[in-house]
Amino acid sequence: QAIYLEDYQAPAWLVTHTELDFELEEEQTLVRARLSIKSNPESGGKRQPLVLNGHEDMELLRLSIDSQVLDSGDYRREGELLTIANVPDQFVLECVTRLLPHENTALEGLYKSDGMFCTQCEAEGFRRITFFPDRPDVMSIFKTTLTAEKSRYPILLSNGNPVASGEESDGRHWVTWEDPWPKPAYLFALVAGDLEVLEDRYLTASGREVRLQIFAERKDLDKLEYAMESLKKAMRWDEEVYGREYDLDIYMIVAVDFFNMGAMENKGLNIFNTSCVLAHPKTTTDAGFQRVEGVVAHEYFHNWSGNRVTCRDWFQLSLKEGFTVFRDAEFSADMNSRTVKRIEDVSLLRTAQFAEDAGPMAHPVRPESYIEISNFYTLTVYEKGAEVVRMVHALLGPELFRKGSDLYFERHDGEAVTTDDFVKAMEDASGRDLTQFRRWYSQAGTPRLNVTDSYDEASGEYQLHISQSCPPSPGQEHKQPYHLPLAFGLLGMDGTELRSGVLEVTAEEESFRFTGLNERPVPSLLRGFSAPVKLEYDYSDAQLLMLLRHDTDGFNRWDAGQRLCIRLMQEQIDAYRPGAEPSVPDALLNAWSELLLDEQLDPAMLAQCLKLPSEAQLAELADTIDVVAIHEVRKGMRKVIAEALEQQWLAAYQRCDLKDVAYSPDAESIGRRSLKNLALGYLMSTGREPWLELARQQYEQSDNMTDQLSALTLVVHSPHRESADELLQNFYLQWQHEPLVMNQWLSVQASDPAEGALERVKQLSEHPVFDAWNPNKLRALIGGFCGQNPIHFHNESGEGYAWLADWILHLDRQNPQVASRLLTPLTRWKRYDAARSALMQKQLQRMMDTPELSADVYEVVSKSLV
Ligand code: ARG
Ligand code: ZN
Repeated sequence: QAIYLEDYQAPAWLVTHTELDFELEEEQTLVRARLSIKSNPESGGKRQPLVLNGHEDMELLRLSIDSQVLDSGDYRREGELLTIANVPDQFVLECVTRLLPHENTALEGLYKSDGMFCTQCEAEGFRRITFFPDRPDVMSIFKTTLTAEKSRYPILLSNGNPVASGEESDGRHWVTWEDPWPKPAYLFALVAGDLEVLEDRYLTASGREVRLQIFAERKDLDKLEYAMESLKKAMRWDEEVYGREYDLDIYMIVAVDFFNMGAMENKGLNIFNTSCVLAHPKTTTDAGFQRVEGVVAHEYFHNWSGNRVTCRDWFQLSLKEGFTVFRDAEFSADMNSRTVKRIEDVSLLRTAQFAEDAGPMAHPVRPESYIEISNFYTLTVYEKGAEVVRMVHALLGPELFRKGSDLYFERHDGEAVTTDDFVKAMEDASGRDLTQFRRWYSQAGTPRLNVTDSYDEASGEYQLHISQSCPPSPGQEHKQPYHLPLAFGLLGMDGTELRSGVLEVTAEEESFRFTGLNERPVPSLLRGFSAPVKLEYDYSDAQLLMLLRHDTDGFNRWDAGQRLCIRLMQEQIDAYRPGAEPSVPDALLNAWSELLLDEQLDPAMLAQCLKLPSEAQLAELADTIDVVAIHEVRKGMRKVIAEALEQQWLAAYQRCDLKDVAYSPDAESIGRRSLKNLALGYLMSTGREPWLELARQQYEQSDNMTDQLSALTLVVHSPHRESADELLQNFYLQWQHEPLVMNQWLSVQASDPAEGALERVKQLSEHPVFDAWNPNKLRALIGGFCGQNPIHFHNESGEGYAWLADWILHLDRQNPQVASRLLTPLTRWKRYDAARSALMQKQLQRMMDTPELSADVYEVVSKSLV
């Protein structure tokens, strides 16, 4: 049941207009669709049957062509397809379907979230609403009428502008919406509910006034301001940086609590997971505020990169996602600290995306085949896809890149296109040849760059020798060399920058020559992480310490420190024996001490530099992952560093304490809080009583969730069990009515490394705040345990694996998308020791042997077992 990119064919039929009527009721929803269909002149002449998509569970009540009702002999319904053999060249198809939104637990198509109706159609949810050529290259003009009981559903929304409304005698009312922009069905949306709204206006660069509305449940009305501010900033930024204006009179966002992903860019009517739109200092952490800003911008930017110019087919998903992630990352970098944003993004890429590249589901940015497209909303398509666009930006430079994006939007406005069309526009605007560069879209895996150098004292000539390779990935044994920008600097041992620039690497092996150097330079390589590769260069400790102190590239400063820590930690992980005392060399302690004393340094940057690489990062780098050694070595090293620099940590804590200043989520304050809480974390690692007191004090006195939750997490994840239980109970009583805060409460406990973790999460799964129908709750508890608590999930008993498999099998019948995502940790079974990997494999096999798996879970399980 796999689908292949190479089989793509243009649609035989086009739907120029789509009229939809929804009768929303408690027990059922009736959908009347009226499609104006004509044959596609570009699909090759001979008349083809009309084939529509429609989910098996959808009840078809009536079907007619040009008002002639069809009986069951006139069409064939098979699986997800409905075929009508004989149709005229142009006709109107009418279709009535019955849906059961209140029973829709998959949260795809039309469903109910906390009593309100909402939709999620990307990628293939529209076929659960009506029969339709549900593919992104069929673009249609939509007109939608919603009818519902007025008292329960006073707000009725769909895409575009409201054009008519009215009341009926029986307490029902209706609203008609028209979206003038042709769009694929995956961008369709509706919402019906009893919602409050925050309103604002925005004046576009050309003077059009746009009404901005953010809808939420009444209790959340005070959590919408930040999203509104973020939206206005994003609208301005897209005008200034890309010359893109908004194109409708209204822009709406709706917050819903039951949502499979983060948010959705439906034309004019974005639907958001509450976790990505609600923000309030008392209930939202700094990371939460930044996520809201980033996701609001991301969905807004899709209006051009995704909606006005959309994807030809789902293999092109990165066309809109990679580009839009790049756009939102640049926006966040402009709004906050550029270097810190880059460090965060690269950390995610290096841990999660590199791990994906090394696992059984590895795929190119433009996949070649899939069974279930939902499984391809991945870090590779999104984050690596964004890195690929970033490289185009680096190779062309900002001006030519802008010329290229202008040409892309202009050339393809209103079209459904491919990643190749994107690259072509960049080529045509810049005159550059990106033929070889295109391999980034078609080859999977993380390339390795091996760099060596040589210096000739007599001539002052220095050379960098670069060789590249890329390990095999499923279905791709051999890889061709990549074309990539390698940003670099050459530094003197005292830190002076002697040269800098961007090298274009294209060959499997090549050398670059620099002349006129009076000393052997230290290379600062891959500055700003200019390409998504693993770079090896045999740095000495002294060189890394110098770069950590002096590199003018902030990213590489951080990276030098990380390299040093990783090397040190890997040595001790490899030599690990239970009870062994970890050590940290004085040179590193001195360097960190120096950084801590440097009051000129940006606290956010400092916090990044003083963070040890995560367990996930160390796992990704290991040949065979030893979860216990990784955990114990990291914990032990933290303690050594904490004790050695105890006074400095305290000083940093005090320096960054924003005591009498009201909370603000600006970059500077966020930076100070991050250093403060990092310092508190190290202090807590000493295990000394006064710091527990300090944490408890911070917990009690803080006016914001960042400080409160940090203190809670540190106490819970410390050996002070009684204090932990007391604070957890206190936190629960304080916040039990805030679902998003309760997600955090679940996560903190799910990731608690103390003994008995599995028992605790099992108990929590029975707790009243847990709701197994809600994806956010599942991610917090199950995702938290299996993803954020490696020593317990990977306990040698295998009970963690069995527990996850039980959940997957249960969830698969209710919400396959969520089940398939939660499954990820088990797919990495080959990376662990023989005993663990056998236990993981056993659970995968158990799932494989279960009849009637969803396509989502089947695809992941079957590919993992290969
Ligand atoms: N296009 C959305 C975004 O990137 C993601 C929605 C994906 N949803 C899904 N069910 N696969 O913002
Ligand atoms: Zn997106």
